Amino acid sequence: MVENTGVENTGSIEALLQEDRTFPPPEAFRRQANIQDPAIYEEARRDPEAFWAGFAEELDWFQKWDQVLDWKPPYAQWFLGGKLNVSYNCLDRHLTSARRNKAAFIWEGEPGDRRVYTYKDLHREVCQFANGLKSLGVKKGDRVTLYLPMIPELPIAMLACARIGAPHSVVFGGFSAESLRGRIEDSQSRVLVTADGGYRRGNIIPLKQNVDDSLTGQSPVEKVVVVRRTEHADDKMVDGRDIWWHDLMATQPLTCEPEPMDSEDMLYMLYTSGTTGQPKGIVHTTGGYLVGTYATTKWIFDLKDEDVYWCTADIGWVTGHSYIVYGPLANGATSVMYEGSPDYPDLDRFWAIVEKYGVTVLYTAPTAIRTFMRWGEEYPKRRDLSTLRLLGTVGEPINPEAWVWYWENIGGGRCPVVDTWWQTETGMVLITPLPGITTLKPGSATQPFPGIEVDVLDEAGNSVGPGGGGYLVLKKPWPAMLRGIYGDPERYVQQYWSQYPDIYFTGDGVKIDEEGYYWLLGRVDDVINVSAHRISTMEVESALVDNPNVAEAACIGKSHDIKGQAIVAFVTIKNHVTASDALIAELKQHVTTKIGAMARPDDIYFAAELPKTRSGKIMRRLLRDVAEGRALGDTTTLADPAVVEALKEQYGDDE
Ligand code: PRX
Repeated sequence: MVENTGVENTGSIEALLQEDRTFPPPEAFRRQANIQDPAIYEEARRDPEAFWAGFAEELDWFQKWDQVLDWKPPYAQWFLGGKLNVSYNCLDRHLTSARRNKAAFIWEGEPGDRRVYTYKDLHREVCQFANGLKSLGVKKGDRVTLYLPMIPELPIAMLACARIGAPHSVVFGGFSAESLRGRIEDSQSRVLVTADGGYRRGNIIPLKQNVDDSLTGQSPVEKVVVVRRTEHADDKMVDGRDIWWHDLMATQPLTCEPEPMDSEDMLYMLYTSGTTGQPKGIVHTTGGYLVGTYATTKWIFDLKDEDVYWCTADIGWVTGHSYIVYGPLANGATSVMYEGSPDYPDLDRFWAIVEKYGVTVLYTAPTAIRTFMRWGEEYPKRRDLSTLRLLGTVGEPINPEAWVWYWENIGGGRCPVVDTWWQTETGMVLITPLPGITTLKPGSATQPFPGIEVDVLDEAGNSVGPGGGGYLVLKKPWPAMLRGIYGDPERYVQQYWSQYPDIYFTGDGVKIDEEGYYWLLGRVDDVINVSAHRISTMEVESALVDNPNVAEAACIGKSHDIKGQAIVAFVTIKNHVTASDALIAELKQHVTTKIGAMARPDDIYFAAELPKTRSGKIMRRLLRDVAEGRALGDTTTLADPAVVEALKEQYGDDE
């Protein structure tokens, strides 16, 4: 069973559990909401398969399914026998109406450049790139790695892959060359798509340089397609391997037949951190994933044809896959897409974008909201935010203060806030308000989406019921659920289905209040959530012990006002090595080089020894007590209690 290490580690838990403010849907919003009748919950509960099939009927199938669900725990198949193509559903089906000239993406680069793609434009570019991929030898089933900044070529490449049935593996541009190398090797991609660079906070992220570094030695990659974005690496093209995006596109026909895909064919894989050092390639398939993202986008964001929807996530994470690319496009929405940082050139950049494009629905992360809070109200006040009608958050628990700040200062007290809980593995939002129905409580993701059945279990597997707290689990399958871990079927079972037999274990702690509202409390496993980025303690530890000075390392997530959690590392150095500030700096840099800047520890503490149980397991819970300056929890299982006392003496008064 998991060590209960995470439930207590999220900031403001106390405040969260005492929160009793409620916010019913503002009347003006409720009246225009797509979904107003709470009876849909009961309807979906009575017959979930019919409920999901209803959404599937709204999509285009080359061949209709014979069976909605086949559930042999832990393996689910949805819409069996159905044939469809995701890019067809995101593009072609909008071309027969006036939507063809509607903006699909309004994109803004960080330097202020701008491009608008109508559905017709997007269709043409996707077809051309799909043909380009084919010309490079990519076939149905081949994996293609995409390592790109937030530029339109990223969704274009994803949809092009979907069009020809080649699963994509998007690697977030913040990952290092070495992380990229591991992901390329695991997926065995022969084609990689990147850009010469991307803009971030006025700097250039050297993506192509990272690619070159990751392809040294043996690599499955044969062809690299390079988007010219920053124009600073024109002399770095490798003959025979690298080809410019624009050169590849120049000769391609403007149409490409969509590949009829089986519902259960793989759409993509996306690596995420688990409780071991090795990231897992989460596998998502075609039919169920599209139905799940289509349905949740439509209902949770209350989408109308006139909306201007903006999800500020990076497409390198699952939020961008489901709620920038697949969900919104399947709904024929207009999305804003922004390349850069919220503080460039000034701290009001997000609000300038909302004002400029008349954004109506905004979806962002609590960590961003807390940052905006710290910057102050003057920045949103500079801009006209009156077009906003609905706000969303995702990625980590939101503390009630941040929720209420968002509600007042961004939403002007008129916009419901949908706090959406889900995971890379779930593919779609599972716990969320429906904005026209749900009375909101700041800090609670409220209720499962219709058709979703969650439960909260104690260690022994008993359902705790209202008023209780425990582990969040899912007992029934849902359409967009992961179908496995790429190349590692055993790990799929072991990771998610072995804590409780035939029940999906989320890794999150949760409390249900007397009214049945869910209050997510953070991870209960060795996963740290830094600014809504998921990082495994083990990954950072492996990066640290990879440094020749380090003998042993243990990492924990420490509560952090802005990031939610910050990484703190305790390291034992080798005998001949001297502890110094220079070594701390070196180790932080080492982690950045091995994984990426988001995994860089905030603090590194030197420890003569690490606290361990008698069986040799590091007790991270106690390290967290030390780092957060708390009284030590139960130390009875420690092999040597003096070890943690010494650490407390050394670092305990840091706060
Ligand atoms: O701990 C939960 C937290 O983020 C984890 C999933 O991370 P990832 O797979 O990277 O996906 C993030 C975007 C979906 C969850 O296990 N989490 C996500 N959303 C929320 C959340 N915690 C509390 N409230 C949320 N709304």
